[in-house]
Amino acid sequence: MLSVTSERSAAQAATTPGATTLAETTPAAMTLAGTTPAETTPSETTPPETTPAITTAATESGAAIGPAATALLGVYRPAAPLFVRGEGSRLFDEEGRGYIDFTSGLGVNALGYGDAGLRAAIGAALSGGVLHTSNLFRTANAARLAEQLVGHSFADRVFFCNSGGEAMEGALKFARRWAREEGGAEKHEVVAMRGSFHGRLFGTLAVTDRPAFREPFEPVMPGARFVKIEDEAGLTTTISQTRTAAIVVEPVQGEGGIRPVPASWLERLREAATAANALLIFDEVQCGLGRTGRLFAYENTGVVPDVVALAKPLAGGLPMGAVLMTARVAAAIRPGDHATTFGGGPLVSAAALHVLERMAEPAFLERVRIMGAHIRERVGGWVGERGVVELRGVGLMWGLESTGAAAEITARALAAGLLLAPAGERTVRLLPPLTITDEELDDGLDILWSVLQ
Ligand SMILES: Cc1ncc(COP(=O)(O)O)c(C=O)c1O
Repeated sequence: MLSVTSERSAAQAATTPGATTLAETTPAAMTLAGTTPAETTPSETTPPETTPAITTAATESGAAIGPAATALLGVYRPAAPLFVRGEGSRLFDEEGRGYIDFTSGLGVNALGYGDAGLRAAIGAALSGGVLHTSNLFRTANAARLAEQLVGHSFADRVFFCNSGGEAMEGALKFARRWAREEGGAEKHEVVAMRGSFHGRLFGTLAVTDRPAFREPFEPVMPGARFVKIEDEAGLTTTISQTRTAAIVVEPVQGEGGIRPVPASWLERLREAATAANALLIFDEVQCGLGRTGRLFAYENTGVVPDVVALAKPLAGGLPMGAVLMTARVAAAIRPGDHATTFGGGPLVSAAALHVLERMAEPAFLERVRIMGAHIRERVGGWVGERGVVELRGVGLMWGLESTGAAAEITARALAAGLLLAPAGERTVRLLPPLTITDEELDDGLDILWSVLQ
């Protein structure tokens, strides 16, 4: 077993009230599962208002960047530091200042920065000279990766794409295609959960419970219905054998504030989907692939879905998504029903093969669970102090709800050398690389404690 508290961080922790044990805290105030859906607006890549503006900066080689940033479309408001290097769980700006990263590039960089194994796998793939062929032709890596994913999961078939939104969009299309065979065109509705986030495309936006994100672009995909988590009456009136094609849920809601969905509700959704002859889709784009301490988040509860969408960490930082499905779903899909030019290319698939091999190691996953227990114990002890209202999460996916604005906490943390992302107006998200060391984790938590007020 790996110990979490290093000598140095223990000394630091001793000076920090956050080092209290779980027994010393108010357990009633610390919710770890079964919370209510988000009432706040999520901040998925929505920049905090308090983030300092980009100013002219110099690159490693000394060349000015500055005004070039204005050529980027203004959908993001990135923080000021210009990152030029990464090592382990730290990013370094052009002035050499290091930042502990509790964002992992929004859940992507599961192996951290500069990982030797990942670099070797990508290097070997590059040396073959074939970055891309399109799916007109066969390549070995995608086929091997699909076999590995099938071997580790409930699934029988895999479709590769390039992002989380695209994986979820694919999942919705496959569900509709399957449902049309089962019940005709009327069987097309998708039931999603309140507090959900599934992406920014026209289908995924339709099942994302964020009217402010959706309304400027309506009409989006028709047939989306929403149910509150644990609203039995709402589920019963919404789901229908003739109309429902699928139920979609994030086992741990990410952008909605890091909210593990109660296992009993996931079981209820499984039962309702089966009874209505509808598919159960798990969106594991953020919570899948080791993040919860299991390879797949569905393994935490024993509820087995029909379709799973994966993306963020799959190719270790290269863009890749995947849709996993059972043979029953796959049987409805014909050549030409769906496609994407870049999907499953040899380079990204080589990276993903390496990531999967590492993550599937029992010791890797056990370490994630141990680190998660440490966060639960240490940060759980902050509840009731410095504006900390609640801690929610599992594995290395935590949301710290505060009375203060999350954007202000993340801005103060940035100034103090810690990268954090909000997940809602009052929730700060902790999403460190899964390879974070004991010392990096405790150093980051020390900074977090120091910037809470
Ligand atoms: C659960 C979930 N699904 C889908 C997406 C969309 O992924 P992408 O931004 O790669 O399109 C996200 C992104 O945060 C997510 O958290």
